[in-house]
Amino acid sequence: MYNSKITGLGYYVPENVVTNDDLAKIMDTNDAWIQERTGIKERRHVIKGDDTTTSMGVKAAKIAIERAGIDKEDIDFIVFATLSPDYYFPGPGVLVQRDLGIKTVGALDVRNQCSGFIYALSVADQYIKSGMYKNVLVIGSELHSHGLDMSTRGRSVSVIFGDGAGAAILSREEDNAKGILSTHLHSEGQHAEELSLIAPGMGKRWVTDIIADNDADDESYYPYMNGQFVFKNAVVRFSEVIIEGLKSNDLQASDIDLLVPHQANLRISQFIQKKFKLGDDQVFNNIMKYGNTTAASIPIALTEAWETGKVKDGDLVVLAAFGSGFTWGSAIIRW
Ligand code: ACO
Repeated sequence: MYNSKITGLGYYVPENVVTNDDLAKIMDTNDAWIQERTGIKERRHVIKGDDTTTSMGVKAAKIAIERAGIDKEDIDFIVFATLSPDYYFPGPGVLVQRDLGIKTVGALDVRNQCSGFIYALSVADQYIKSGMYKNVLVIGSELHSHGLDMSTRGRSVSVIFGDGAGAAILSREEDNAKGILSTHLHSEGQHAEELSLIAPGMGKRWVTDIIADNDADDESYYPYMNGQFVFKNAVVRFSEVIIEGLKSNDLQASDIDLLVPHQANLRISQFIQKKFKLGDDQVFNNIMKYGNTTAASIPIALTEAWETGKVKDGDLVVLAAFGSGFTWGSAIIRW
C-alpha cells in the first residue's frame, strides 16, 4: 500500500478587507461584540464580479501545483469541497478542470460544509493509498458574502463568515512513516437544520412557486445557525475526533506539534487548546483576519502555517473540523 503526502499548498483571499467597524455601518453590531465572541477582527468579501468560488479555488490551486513541483497535466483527479458553489449544478470540480485547462480527469464535489476539506482530503488519501491515483488536487473554496443577510436580522451569522480558498496537492509517498497517517469522519444528521441553508434546495419548495412568490425576503434563503447549540456540540466533537485520531495511531496529545483546527470561532479553538494542554505555538489560528471560511479555512490556515515555518519536516500535524450536518472529522499527518 502507498501512503499519501501533501506536497503543495496554496491559498487565495480576495483583496477587499471588511472590518468589524465596516459591518457596524450597515447593521446593528460592534467590534467589541464580534471580537469578544468570535475573535474575528476582519474578513474578506469578494467584490461582485471579481471572483467566484471556482475562480478563487483555481487561484489557490495554481499556487499549490507550482509548489508541488508538478505539471497540471500530472493531476489525476480533482476533489472540490464547498457549500457555496457557483451553480446549483454542475459543481465546481468540473469548472476547475475546465479553467485549469487540464485533461479529462475525474472531478468530485464534496458537500460537507466546515468539514468539507477533511472529507475531501480523506477521499483523495484513499485514492492514493489504493494505488489508483498519484496526484490529487484538493480544493476548499467559499464565497459566503453574497449569500448572507447583511441586515441586523442576520447579524449573528453574517459577521462570522468570510470568503477565500485553499488548495493542496496530495501525492503518492513511498515512505510509509510519512504523510497522512489516518483520517476520521463522522456525521449526525439529526441536527441538520441547526446550521443550514434551506433554500434553494428542492425540498424547500418548487421553483415555479419561488418565481411566482418572488419572495426575496424569505429568511430560508439565508443561512440559519443555532449558535449556542452549535458551539456546545463543536467543542465535544472536536475533542472526540482528535482523541480518536491520536489513539488510532498510538499517539497522545503531547505528541502534537501543530493543531490546525477549522477556523470556526476563536473561542472553540481556545477551548480545544486548553483541553489538550497545548501551547500557543501548537495551535494555528488566523480567524482574526479571515473569519470563518468553512471548507476553505483549514487549507488557508495550513498554508499560512507552512509559509511561516510553523510546519516542519517530521512534525505531527493534526487537522480537525466540525460543522453543519452536523459533520466532523480529523486528519493525522506526519509531515
Ligand atoms: N452584534 C451585536 N449583537 C449581536 C450580534 C452581533 N453580530 N449577533 C447577535 N447579537 C445579540 C443577540 O441579538 C442577543 O441579543 P439579546 O440578548 O438582546 O437577545 C445577544 O447578542 C446574544 O445573542 P446570542 O446568539 O445568544 O449570542 P452568543 O453569545 O451565543 O454568541 C455566537 C453568538 C457568536 C454565534 C455563538 O453562539 C457562537 O460562537 N456559536 C458557535 C458558532 C460557530 O462557531 N459557528 C461556526 C461553527 S460551525 C461552522 O463553522 C459552520
